[in-house]
Amino acid sequence: EWQTPNLLEARVVRQLLKQRRPVGFPPGPTGLPLIGNIHSLASEQPHVYMKRQSQVHGQIFSLDLGGISSIVLNGYDEIKECLIQQSEVFADRPSLPLFKKLTNMGGLLNSKYGRGWTEHRKLAVSSFRLFGYGQKSFEHKISEESMFFLDAIDTYKGKPFDLKHLITNAVSNVTNLIIFGERFTYEDMEFQHMIEIFSENIELAASASVFLYNSFPWIGILPFGKHQQLFKNAAEVYNFLLKLIERVSQNRKSQLPRHYIDAYLEEMDRNKNDPEFTYSTENLIFSVGELIIAGTETTTNVLRWAILFMALYPNIQGQVHKEIDLVVGPNKTPSLEEKCKMPYTEAVLHEILRFCNIAPLGIFHATSKDTVVRGYSIPQGTTVITNLYSVHFDEKYWSNPEVFYPERFLDSNGQFVKKEAFVPFSLGRRHCLGEQLARMEMFLFFTSLLQRFHLHFPHGLIPNLKSKLGMTLQPYPYLICAERRY
Ligand code: HEM
Repeated sequence: EWQTPNLLEARVVRQLLKQRRPVGFPPGPTGLPLIGNIHSLASEQPHVYMKRQSQVHGQIFSLDLGGISSIVLNGYDEIKECLIQQSEVFADRPSLPLFKKLTNMGGLLNSKYGRGWTEHRKLAVSSFRLFGYGQKSFEHKISEESMFFLDAIDTYKGKPFDLKHLITNAVSNVTNLIIFGERFTYEDMEFQHMIEIFSENIELAASASVFLYNSFPWIGILPFGKHQQLFKNAAEVYNFLLKLIERVSQNRKSQLPRHYIDAYLEEMDRNKNDPEFTYSTENLIFSVGELIIAGTETTTNVLRWAILFMALYPNIQGQVHKEIDLVVGPNKTPSLEEKCKMPYTEAVLHEILRFCNIAPLGIFHATSKDTVVRGYSIPQGTTVITNLYSVHFDEKYWSNPEVFYPERFLDSNGQFVKKEAFVPFSLGRRHCLGEQLARMEMFLFFTSLLQRFHLHFPHGLIPNLKSKLGMTLQPYPYLICAERRY
């Protein structure tokens, strides 16, 4: 489809008009014609760029993402003011062409703020309780998964290897139990492939060429580029999930849901006469995909960073070993009941979440109405970026934030203390719905791993400590030796 010169001109003029800042809008860095500030985001880690810009333009500033009018919120006070004090106004998601194409703004995580989101979030929350942590046996199931995980590590007999795939499998299996009522073995290549290409999409979503697609969706007709790879992956994931959902919902019995899928289909049946009801097979597939990836990508990366830092700081690892030996001992399976007696281990996990910023920009929000924040006018439909990294490195709340220091979460008696400006799961209506599950998993996997193993880098060689660029931050692949302690 070739564009005639006139049509192209009209598009350029329209794009330039879109780029003008509305009256009363926050100031921000000057962008280039057409692409605005997109090129700056491609040149360094976006969250670092944004924190630096906040020192020039203020804690709330504007960015032009190629005609997509956006504001960036930096610092704890500013994020709280918007996501808590004006929680409804800031609870929407932007209608970006990428999300529209992928989920038609349905599902759960990317859903517009309205009836669809409310109905999908409610069922997910109640299913997590019903088939997850509300069951007494659920902790035991996580421990069982962590035993499979440790036994798989044992097969390497202390030789160097990359833990990424094993952690991904183990972590996703905890969500799989809730959603599908079953786990997948570590040899299940089909499931692993699905997670792999899904996770590749999270990386692609942060690439400059995909940002460009959001501004100029007509580049979608080009047969090459990262957006094409992204759409191809998304279609493959969709078909995989559709088949899986069909399989696990066979033999479904009314009023006896066995897992999230059953519960969703049951609700869909019950409301089939309500034309406004938002459940559909499509929205089920989108929600399932979102729950799987939101739970796996994040928790896996926390554990990968935690292992990296334990090998990097042997004295910190030693203190965790000491606490585990004292409270749990060498033979018993660690349990959540013991968490309150293990403040040092808790402090280490919290410092990993603060320092490593797994989701540095959270998930993009949007305003559902016109509003005013700190004197600035923000129109409805503005994209809102929450720079959670800037909160974790906010000098007002943290001393020497650039230092990895678990003791900042301990009082003078060595007891664990909560910190207000600790927001890895974000705040407000859209805050992470898997927080409780993630906390259980992180604690149980981490303590059972360190109960059995001593972790070190092969030949003491320290790997690259930088994070890869993406919507979530993960370490570059690294090798580790897990040596049995007993
Ligand atoms: C350490 C692990 C995790 C971290 C750091 C994390 C972080 C986040 C963050 C920052 C958000 C964005 C909230 C916002 O829009 O303001 C979010 C949303 C979300 N998370 Fe998590 N998450 C984790 C684990 C999980 C798990 C285990 C699940 C489920 C299995 C999950 C499911 C979701 C969902 C569904 C949303 C979207 C909520 C909505 O739009 O209403 N997350 N998470």
